[in-house]
Amino acid sequence: MIEATGITKAFNGVQVLRGVSLTLRKGEVVAVIGPSGSGKSTFLRCLNHLEIIDGGSIVVEGEALATAQAEGPSRYASDADVRRICRKMGMVFQSFNLFPHMTVLENVIEAPITVKRLPRATAIAKADALLDKVGLLAKRDNYPGRLSGGQKQRVAIARALAMEPDIMLFDEPTSALDPELTVEVLRTMRQLAEEHMTMLVVTHEMGFAREVAHRVIFMDDGRVVESADSARFFSAPQHERTRTFLGQML
Ligand SMILES: Nc1ncnc2c1ncn2[C@@H]1O[C@H](COP(=O)(O)OP(=O)(O)OP(=O)(O)O)[C@@H](O)[C@H]1O
Ligand SMILES: [Mg+2]
Repeated sequence: MIEATGITKAFNGVQVLRGVSLTLRKGEVVAVIGPSGSGKSTFLRCLNHLEIIDGGSIVVEGEALATAQAEGPSRYASDADVRRICRKMGMVFQSFNLFPHMTVLENVIEAPITVKRLPRATAIAKADALLDKVGLLAKRDNYPGRLSGGQKQRVAIARALAMEPDIMLFDEPTSALDPELTVEVLRTMRQLAEEHMTMLVVTHEMGFAREVAHRVIFMDDGRVVESADSARFFSAPQHERTRTFLGQML
């Protein structure tokens, strides 16, 4: 579903990604872990064009989003193709990013109506089904300001799903939440995984990485240090740096 190869990215001359590669297969759940500042969010944002890569290639479902060049920066597909390819990916952020002036329902139907041009009634029917799925149908006419953090995040998940993405990208979806609210968001994510959604999840939740993810990638200092099946990753980490990090986390 996603093939990223040798992604490099610098901000103001500071190298943040030093050649990151990843293969995400259909139905696979991959957790990305690593210390603060290691480049996890930047990598995720590069995948759906929220950041422009310097070097490397990104292929999404067989279509080139960005292609490495022999010299100079990677070349992107046309603007129209970039938009179309990126629509295959839904993203959920740590900070929810809901529209505060719209109700829960309006948040969920906004993009399907304006971007996908769904008839309003169709969009509403779909939104109601998704809100029911994340357990928030009763809140559909509330404004985000009236919701708990966990509820906001579940609305954000429903909003991303409303665009019918093939891949979901999550950037620390629970790290702004209290433990009891984290549980309800993780439950929703686990349910998605059970429905075979393809997911790439940056997370501090080692329990989620161990129990739900098929594979775990450990990043440090802009590189992938270790990538392994989650059972093996936790039971027999190969690299000293991974062991030190896990020692601090577990
Ligand atoms: N827009 C930006 N401009 C300049 N520097 C940036 C920008 N975004 C990220 N960085 C820098 O890139 C490095 C990697 O940041 P990134 O957010 O990808 O790390 P992270 O692994 O997601 O960390 P955390 O676990 O704290 O979220 C950091 O040093 C950060 O300061
Ligand atoms: Mg981050």
